[in-house]
Amino acid sequence: VVTSPKPIKEEVEFATEPCKVALVGFGTVGRSVARILTSRSSQDLRLTHVVNRNVDRKRVDWVPRDVAWTQSFDDVLNSDIDVVLELVGGLDPAEHWVRRSLESGKSVVTANKQLIARHGPALQKLARENGVHLLFGASVAGGIPVLLGLQEGLGGDRIHRISGILNGTCNYILSQIENAHISFGEALEQAQAKGFAEANASEDIDGYDARAKLTILARTALNADLEPEQVATRGIREVEQIDFAYAHDLGCTIRQISRAEVKDKTLFAGVQPALVPQSSALARVTGSQNVVVSAGEFGGETVFSGHGAGGDPTAVAVVSDLLWLSRNRHNRVTAESKSAADLTISGDFKSAHYVRFKVADKPGILAALANVFSRHEINVDAVLQQAGHSKSALPFVITIEPCRVEKLRKALAEIRSLDFHVAPPVDMPILT
Ligand SMILES: NC(=O)c1ccc[n+]([C@@H]2O[C@H](COP(=O)([O-])OP(=O)(O)OC[C@H]3O[C@@H](n4cnc5c(N)ncnc54)[C@H](OP(=O)(O)O)[C@@H]3O)[C@@H](O)[C@H]2O)c1
Repeated sequence: VVTSPKPIKEEVEFATEPCKVALVGFGTVGRSVARILTSRSSQDLRLTHVVNRNVDRKRVDWVPRDVAWTQSFDDVLNSDIDVVLELVGGLDPAEHWVRRSLESGKSVVTANKQLIARHGPALQKLARENGVHLLFGASVAGGIPVLLGLQEGLGGDRIHRISGILNGTCNYILSQIENAHISFGEALEQAQAKGFAEANASEDIDGYDARAKLTILARTALNADLEPEQVATRGIREVEQIDFAYAHDLGCTIRQISRAEVKDKTLFAGVQPALVPQSSALARVTGSQNVVVSAGEFGGETVFSGHGAGGDPTAVAVVSDLLWLSRNRHNRVTAESKSAADLTISGDFKSAHYVRFKVADKPGILAALANVFSRHEINVDAVLQQAGHSKSALPFVITIEPCRVEKLRKALAEIRSLDFHVAPPVDMPILT
């Protein structure tokens, strides 16, 4: 049988046909994406639909007239678009819409960390089954191309550790406590007034936003089969000005750190406030900036940093995914998923620790604490006490030599029942 080669003209037309994009969710990121798409001179991406509830109040005059504004997602599914760009956020209806898009043969680009952290592997499987693509480069660290960097740029290495600052709201609040010498409550109010934090800021300050991002990072970089609930997660509510004063004495500052590390078939994963050396890349990150540091077996440490949020930086990551798709959308052979490594998940990191006490002063307190630590075979490294505090609520710090978190927690559970506390002890790892 003689088959005639495809006409060259048809191939050229095929390759230059614009990639048709339906933008679902015309909010902060959606508007910025529309701005970028409509201001590009290149014809490779064409915005065809904008979907939003009560869409009439969203209309803007700078979007080309031939773009269809609709509140019906079915209009998108029934059209000949190539890509659904999901920017509504949350799980419902985002998950349903993404599933329907993939099932009907449309690729999906999303910035939705909750969706990908919770359903990413299942949705990727669905994409593969339907010969389409699911890209989510903007779901972690906004405009920093960290997922692509880890997956492609560092694909030749074996990464064993990632750590980072993945939530700009926490970083802003901690920076304000440190630099403006205000309380956690005041810093939170400021963040809310400036639009850096939601009215209900729990997602950020209790660590759930960062743990969703860490889940996605660990799957990408460490090939880990991780669910968000398996990440040991603590918020930043307990951090006070006095903790920064003591952290500075130790040459450190305090940041909300997300970290995951593979050691001997165990994946340690956690999000929590931690002391980091002032000279480290993690300490230098301010405001809504994000940073991710990866450690590879061959290439050593690599630092990714930049704008972790905001409409425009996030939109850049989204448009970059769209451009990748416009080049690769006809390649129906999607990469097979690597089967996840067989790892036990744990939050029981080994590190040095900072423990801050606030006590009604009386003789024998240090002896009582030393007694409990020694019974739990925990070595005290140093005791720090700054002058000038009231004896009725005296803060001091004990640093602990490297030990497992669980061991320290057991000792602290016992210590909490002692009668001299004015506030419960606050413990944080000291990361070197
Ligand atoms: N903003 C950032 O800095 C940032 C950074 C990284 C990733 N992301 C992710 O990007 C996504 C979008 O975030 P965003 O900040 O742009 O959110 P946003 O400003 O709240 O925008 C969401 C848009 O979707 C619309 N929408 C919500 N539910 C809908 C529904 N059921 N039906 C139709 N339309 C609906 C909203 O309409 P209404 O106006 O009626 O509410 C709004 O226009 C989220 O997944 C977020 O996590 C955001």
